[in-house]
Amino acid sequence: MAAITFAEDVAGARPGEGDGAVPRLTVIGTGYLGATHAICMAVLGFDVLGVDVDPGKIERLAGGEVPFFEPGLPELLAKALDSGRLRFTTSFEEAAEFGDVHFICVGTPQQRGSDAADMTYVDSAVTELARHLRRRALVVGKSTVPVGTAARLTELVRNTAPAGSEVELAWNPEFLREGYAVDDTLRPDRLVFGTASAWAEEQLRAAFAPVIARDTPVVVTDLTTAELVKVAANSFLATKISYINAMAEVCEATGGDVTGLAEALAYDDRIGGRFLKPGLGFGGGCLPKDIRAFAHRAEELGVGQAVAFLREVDGINKRRRARTVDLVREMAGGDLTGVRVTALGAAFKPNSDDIRDAPALDVASTLHQLGAHVTVVDPAATENARRSHPELSYGTDALSAATGADVVVLLTEWTEFRQIDPEAMGAVVASRRIVDGRHALDPVQWRTAGWEYRALGRP
Ligand code: UDX
Repeated sequence: MAAITFAEDVAGARPGEGDGAVPRLTVIGTGYLGATHAICMAVLGFDVLGVDVDPGKIERLAGGEVPFFEPGLPELLAKALDSGRLRFTTSFEEAAEFGDVHFICVGTPQQRGSDAADMTYVDSAVTELARHLRRRALVVGKSTVPVGTAARLTELVRNTAPAGSEVELAWNPEFLREGYAVDDTLRPDRLVFGTASAWAEEQLRAAFAPVIARDTPVVVTDLTTAELVKVAANSFLATKISYINAMAEVCEATGGDVTGLAEALAYDDRIGGRFLKPGLGFGGGCLPKDIRAFAHRAEELGVGQAVAFLREVDGINKRRRARTVDLVREMAGGDLTGVRVTALGAAFKPNSDDIRDAPALDVASTLHQLGAHVTVVDPAATENARRSHPELSYGTDALSAATGADVVVLLTEWTEFRQIDPEAMGAVVASRRIVDGRHALDPVQWRTAGWEYRALGRP
């Protein structure tokens, strides 16, 4: 164990206070989850070593640059580096020597051609680390994985590490949302510790002491349950979104208004309004692939029927994208050939530059395939979008991109798009026609300004 270090600058954050044992932490995988975790833990006062196989990423982080868009994180990275408590390396040997608690934060993307999660990165990170573990240590999985992974990795670690059964495995799922990653890490709703021994629980309690000191609820459970909590939570959230979007489909067929319906449901405390926003549906690097991997894993285990509804949740979500394309086509008079469309948004949600499984880009690219000339604008995700969809045109701001447009379609509800003045945009477009894919605009205001306004699930 390392000497005690205190984060004087973070109120209430004093790792090791009371018991004196402050574990040194490594964070393996410095993507979204790992970089945020490493930086926040260093800010909380721990000595942290971030590890990645990508030397470019390590160089950027060590130089004070966060390689993705996350409000507040660059400032915390600077603070952590200045404190001397955060370092980065590509060496697993160095990590194994340094750390008492090792967090595995690598990605588990969807496999190509299958719904299953790709476990290559987790397996190789754990194997590489374990090979060098010569003393008692705790390996903690944070990645979202198919249930049963922790049991398999326990064996792998035991058989690979020179320290053998001195090395234990635990599971600590992460629930952070992009755009709120710092807050979700420093002030999580709850901590979940999946452990196989009292010693492992003790290590985790020490590694999260400053967070626990803020009255964060801790659920201590077994490895399997801890793995399941994460996929169960994401499945629930995805189901809630698809539920209201299914109601939008019914509204479309009956002339109802899904926004009024959602508002009325939200007043029932048992239902609540969060994740009940109808529109273009969910995307990103988590919800879509997590529900698919969960359904796939359940089928492998012979309990596919129990979560078969997740296939429908996915189906409803995909139909929202198709319906948005239909609305644009209807507005264009039934044929998109040569129609100039301005797409407001590319990121899977506002305050993010992430375009993984982004509904916005999916819609923009389908419109392009159907013959439209699509110009995409996004305050943060343009570079990422351009790399994956070079066939689309990109604008710098909403007004200039909308100049001459036949139809405008709002796909990601960035604040700057919500605040567009319908008169100002009306002055530059060829036709005042807008599809609001996120219920982000006031229909009365836009219609008053002479716009033909359409939104999913609204008359
Ligand atoms: C999600 C989970 O929220 C988080 O707990 C988990 O750790 C990772 O996955 P994130 O992917 O950052 O986080 O996005 P989130 O804010 O959950 O939004 C997911 C998608 O759902 C976005 O595309 C968003 O636009 C959409 N959404 C969200 C809706 O369509 N309606 C809603 O009411 C809420």
